[in-house]
Amino acid sequence: MTGSPLFTPIHLGPFTLQNRLVLPPLTRSRSTQPGNIPNALMAEYYRQRSSAGLLITEGIQIEPRGQGYAWTPGIHSQEQIDGWKQVTDAVHLEDKPIFAQLWHVGRVSHTSLQPGGAAPVAPSALPATAVSVFIETGPALARWPNRPCRRP
Ligand SMILES: Cc1cc2nc3c(=O)[nH]c(=O)nc-3n(C[C@H](O)[C@H](O)[C@H](O)COP(=O)(O)O)c2cc1C
Repeated sequence: MTGSPLFTPIHLGPFTLQNRLVLPPLTRSRSTQPGNIPNALMAEYYRQRSSAGLLITEGIQIEPRGQGYAWTPGIHSQEQIDGWKQVTDAVHLEDKPIFAQLWHVGRVSHTSLQPGGAAPVAPSALPATAVSVFIETGPALARWPNRPCRRP
């Protein structure tokens, strides 16, 4: 296998990746509660996978209303930023780059994930139909009876 191009370096912008394996973004819902804070378990998860040439994090909400699944980590509070530093430090110790996947899920959310139980915010007032999200009790439809989406 060592002769495979998979295990040869490649340039990506300013980075020289040591191989061509990439960890794709994979939502794990393992953040510390309350506060959706990245933790030591997550740092260990990413460290274990840092034999890949490049790591992309799971989706990270950029603000509280951007969350679409239970317990996904955010990057909008200082505690969350500090938590991510544990993760990036662990991966950088293995000499690998890690990129954050930033997300705001818009209407593909649920009132139980929104601050104050409000309807999700989205560019239009049209609810998402037949789209599943995961909330604390398990799978749920991304909808909110009789309430249109709100414009931010
Ligand atoms: C459990 C799980 C969580 C995932 N989480 C994310 C995510 O946070 N962000 C994203 O863009 N894609 C996510 N994906 C999609 C994966 O990145 C995708 O499945 C992977 O890149 C492989 O591509 P493929 O499914 O087309 O083969 C997730 C997939 C799975 C199975």
